[in-house]
Amino acid sequence: MSQTERTFIAVKPDGVQRGLVSQILSRFEKRGYKLVGIKMLNASEELLTQHYAEHVGKPFFPKMVSFMMSGPIVATVWEGKDVVKQGRTILGATNPLSSAPGTIRGDFGIDLGRNVCHGSDSVESAEREINLWFKSEELTSWESNQSKWIY
Ligand code: TYD
Ligand code: MG
Repeated sequence: MSQTERTFIAVKPDGVQRGLVSQILSRFEKRGYKLVGIKMLNASEELLTQHYAEHVGKPFFPKMVSFMMSGPIVATVWEGKDVVKQGRTILGATNPLSSAPGTIRGDFGIDLGRNVCHGSDSVESAEREINLWFKSEELTSWESNQSKWIY
């Protein structure tokens, strides 16, 4: 069922250092999405290599991984109708210079390597990334009392 679709959204080290965590997460809450998992961690090289497996060997990979290891990350899982695709829209384009104002990257960034957030790019990626970053017992399932006004 589409309402139980889940996605993985992370605030990258630059977003954390710049104090943007609450502003980034509030956009998902206000839209009506439900937070079902959240934690702060220093990601290991191993975790990031698995997370960004599709980019291993690309020229930007080493710098990108060291940036992602430069400070803590806030890892979250959100649930709701079409959340994977809508989450990417809320984030904006990969390059902040191509991101529309009103998107997170379009409002908070100007550099490709400092784009403040990550979001899964497909339902399959979301499932893979959620399993990579979270143990099943770290995820919750709960009934929002706002649901009847959102759906
Ligand atoms: P990618 O998966 O293409 O983008 P997205 O985060 O929108 O899914 O790339 C992963 C991250 O790698 C991207 O958020 C920023 C960084 N990156 C670079 O630093 N240089 C590049 O040329 C690209 C394509 C990405
Ligand atoms: Mg990607």
